Amino acid sequence: MDTQILVAYATKYGATAEIAEKIGQVLRQAGLRTDVLPAKRVKDLTPYKAVILGSAVYIGQWRKEAATFLRTNEKALTERPVWLFSSGPTGEGDPIQSLKGWRLPKAQQPIADRIRPRDIAVFHGALDPERMNLIEKWMVKNVKASLGDSRDWGAIDAWARTISDALLRETP
Ligand SMILES: Cc1cc2nc3c(=O)[nH]c(=O)nc-3n(C[C@H](O)[C@H](O)[C@H](O)COP(=O)(O)O)c2cc1C
Repeated sequence: MDTQILVAYATKYGATAEIAEKIGQVLRQAGLRTDVLPAKRVKDLTPYKAVILGSAVYIGQWRKEAATFLRTNEKALTERPVWLFSSGPTGEGDPIQSLKGWRLPKAQQPIADRIRPRDIAVFHGALDPERMNLIEKWMVKNVKASLGDSRDWGAIDAWARTISDALLRETP
């Protein structure tokens, strides 16, 4: 199928990049040509039929590169099917519930309302204390966040399949 899909991501320590790669892998296995790229490296959405954009969450905010991507590409995103995801909360249970219903930072909500993404997912993230600086370690301890890798590959895989199913259904 000659349809190109973009999975763009913003990460600090790489956990979100691996989630994006997993989504890309599922789309490719479904036969969709898919680029997985850091959001800051994407200059033009013209080649892409659909876009999946995800960001790690730090102190309730998306990474700057993801926020910039959403803002600068608003028009092109409005004209394509778009899926968004945030990755962050660690520990057990439903990540959306652990964020009290939050899916996207307030700052991105007005643009998202205009783009009307097909879905906004929240995935568990990973916290590696070995890689955090002192301030980050203090902050994470302060909010009693669970350390380690909480990423739920089954949930990520299932979400990516809903995207590939939708795209395959809609692409002649
Ligand atoms: C200093 C700091 C602040 C964080 N703030 C939040 C937050 O507000 N909400 C959240 O869900 N996760 C938060 N996290 C967890 C990260 O989003 C999580 O570790 C994520 O998987 C990191 O992704 P990355 O490796 O792609 O940068 C925070 C982590 C650190 C180190």
